[in-house]
Amino acid sequence: MRISKLTLSLLILIIMLSMFAARISNLISISYDYASEDDQVIPRPYDPSLVLDDENKHLMWFVQISDIHLSIFHDSGRISDFNDFCNVTLDIIQPTVVLASGDLADAKAIDSMGSRQFIQEWHFYQDILQKNNVEKKTMWLDIRGNHDNFNVPSIMEEKSHFHQFSIQGKRHLRSYMYRVTKDQQTYSFIGVDACLDPGPRRPFNFIGLLKSEEYQTLENFERESRDSNGTVWFGHYPTSCIISPDPGIRNLMKNGVAYMCGHLHTLAGTVPKMYTLHRTGTLELELGDWKDNRL
Ligand SMILES: *[C@@H]1O[C@H](CO)[C@@H](O)[C@H](O)[C@H]1NC(C)=O
Ligand SMILES: *[C@@H]1O[C@H](CO)[C@@H](O)[C@H](O)[C@H]1NC(C)=O
Repeated sequence: MRISKLTLSLLILIIMLSMFAARISNLISISYDYASEDDQVIPRPYDPSLVLDDENKHLMWFVQISDIHLSIFHDSGRISDFNDFCNVTLDIIQPTVVLASGDLADAKAIDSMGSRQFIQEWHFYQDILQKNNVEKKTMWLDIRGNHDNFNVPSIMEEKSHFHQFSIQGKRHLRSYMYRVTKDQQTYSFIGVDACLDPGPRRPFNFIGLLKSEEYQTLENFERESRDSNGTVWFGHYPTSCIISPDPGIRNLMKNGVAYMCGHLHTLAGTVPKMYTLHRTGTLELELGDWKDNRL
């Protein structure tokens, strides 16, 4: 039997699509055997004298923006809308903290196939933050995503534009922690940088990795955060996309309120609200993207 070229291409396409679907369902499902024995739901302490009323005491709010993908080739509205976000939206919401959870720049070639860092995209990012005095308005916590790490030979090199042009990249090489005090309550924000080092080109850095020293750094942050009134974890990759040493990344976050991440966008509109509850009681909330959905 002769198989035509078209049939062959179709067959290959079907096989690739089913592999992709299996991969994705693997990524978003929470497998119960993933959790270890000591991953029990931890009762969260709360003060019973605190009741909701019409005052804004004991209240702190923050905003997350993710997968911005500022691009010099595609959809200039991403840039102008991001400027409005920093100018108008932040002035209205007045959040204590903004989490910018990675893929700040697109770093994709004009044909969308290859990848490369473009310094102009980072100039847009830096200029918008500076022009709008973002650092005076809020605590801006930006962290790298895989696109910010495409073709980046080393975090020490000039080529890591994230470390040259972002707000936190100038201060921290990888994961970091901040404490925020508002209205006598203290909150910890722990940023998880699971980017590969060196950063491979597209499409080879879809998955994140925590080396054991990075894991230890995060363990130390976790210990330090215990005396605060609430801990929020954030990063680019969902935990299902991070390879980490035992007892695993979810275990690390077990005293946290939530882990806020990005990376999967909305899976092309198929999963508009992506969230899960870890067995430890920590929420994992994956925000869709600014790139196409302005989320
Ligand atoms: C911010 O918005 C105001 C009012 O719409 C406008 O006058 C100003 O030029 C904007 N600033 C920037 C940096 O876009
Ligand atoms: C916040 O933490 C402090 C120190 O641990 C504690 O004294 C205080 O009661 C906590 N506040 C609330 C509202 O839980």
